[in-house]
Amino acid sequence: MKITFTVNGDERTVETRPLTRLLDLLRDGLELKGCKEGCGEGECGVCAVIMNGRLVNACMVPAMQAGGAEILTIEGLGGESNPDPLQRAFVEEGAVHCGFCTPGMILAARALLEQVPAPSLGQTKTALSGNLCRCTGYNRIFAAVNKAATDGYQPAPSGRGRRLAPEFDPKEQEHFFCPESLDEALDILAVRPHLTLLGGGTDIGPDMKAGRLRPKGVVDISNLPELRVLERRADEMLRIGACVTDSELMESPLVRELFPALYRAAAECAAPAVRNRASIGGNLCSASGAADLPVALLALGASLCLRSQGRERIVPAHEFIKGYRKPDLQPGEILAEILLPVPPAGSAQAFYKRGSRAALTLSRVSVALYVERDNGRIIACRAGAGSMSPTPVRLPRLEAALSGRNLGPETTALAVQTIREELDPRKSPAYRKAIAGNLVRRFLESL
Ligand code: FES
Ligand code: FES
Repeated sequence: MKITFTVNGDERTVETRPLTRLLDLLRDGLELKGCKEGCGEGECGVCAVIMNGRLVNACMVPAMQAGGAEILTIEGLGGESNPDPLQRAFVEEGAVHCGFCTPGMILAARALLEQVPAPSLGQTKTALSGNLCRCTGYNRIFAAVNKAATDGYQPAPSGRGRRLAPEFDPKEQEHFFCPESLDEALDILAVRPHLTLLGGGTDIGPDMKAGRLRPKGVVDISNLPELRVLERRADEMLRIGACVTDSELMESPLVRELFPALYRAAAECAAPAVRNRASIGGNLCSASGAADLPVALLALGASLCLRSQGRERIVPAHEFIKGYRKPDLQPGEILAEILLPVPPAGSAQAFYKRGSRAALTLSRVSVALYVERDNGRIIACRAGAGSMSPTPVRLPRLEAALSGRNLGPETTALAVQTIREELDPRKSPAYRKAIAGNLVRRFLESL
């Protein structure tokens, strides 16, 4: 396959394989060795580059999605003889020890400073939360970012690029597709239902590396306009296209105002470089017990629109996940949209997550709660939990226990007891039950 993209301002055309990682393409194909490999699965940030104005982990981007992109690597900022002011600030503040994490750190800092010229310490920590350093203890790095910002560092906005389909070789044309509309994608799948759907790509790279996935062919659906919608419908439903990314959810005023539980789940599901690629549909279709967004969607009463050639199905979110990594998708079917009923006035919702590291993808405990109230009485309740079993679960006993009861200490105590009895985590049950109960108490006391 041949792709053309822009790297550090130069247009490049390269021959590669469709699922070669951008990381390998940059390092081995273009000799840009500043982009490193650490974990290979989105946890360390040493492979971070800026692609179309967003920080991404190059280990999670298949080459076939880089056509037409504008990519900035550390080599594009400056070198030893002409360092960028941000690079200079890292040196002057002693933020570089072994240097392995430094290119990714600097690019994460640059992505932040493009958006927020004078970040607070908290904003800097969040922006760099997906980048691990084993030498500096981070404080020198935060000081370097602060120094660059205080000195007036104002990077020009990174290029946004445009989507350009690769030129597939004749043999690849049978197996790799970049359709331009949902109907075209459904036509392809109707005759080739075995193909793997490629969205944000945050699972495919790590799954291939771990040997869990050997795709025979791929349909890239990440840029289909029908899967990128995010709008409020006249019937008081929010429509979210399956390929809307976690970052786009967070940037949406509709999501922020109407669905704070979903906003929180998107914000806490991973570090910025992963959120910039991971999609809501991908998180649902991964059908993993540790996925965050499905937990919020269970509590918010989401339903899912599944499309296949000439057919549409609407499935409640709690029926979609049939088992671990088993979404209810029939051959030739695509999850197209997530539909969320706009909550009435007086309702309340929350999503809580506890894990070992704020930016780590996997939670240890997650709980989402939604209630409708009338004069201090709970008239409807939905609840979901994650990381308790192979799939996210809805909590019907807790919902029944809360519905119709007045808010107050007795109801809170009943709810805490009920969720602890209802959950049946396989690992660390005492810890997980205790935390889940505490989170329910926190929510009810906040009301
Ligand atoms: Fe660790 Fe890419 S190598 S995030
Ligand atoms: Fe060594 Fe960060 S400077 S890992």
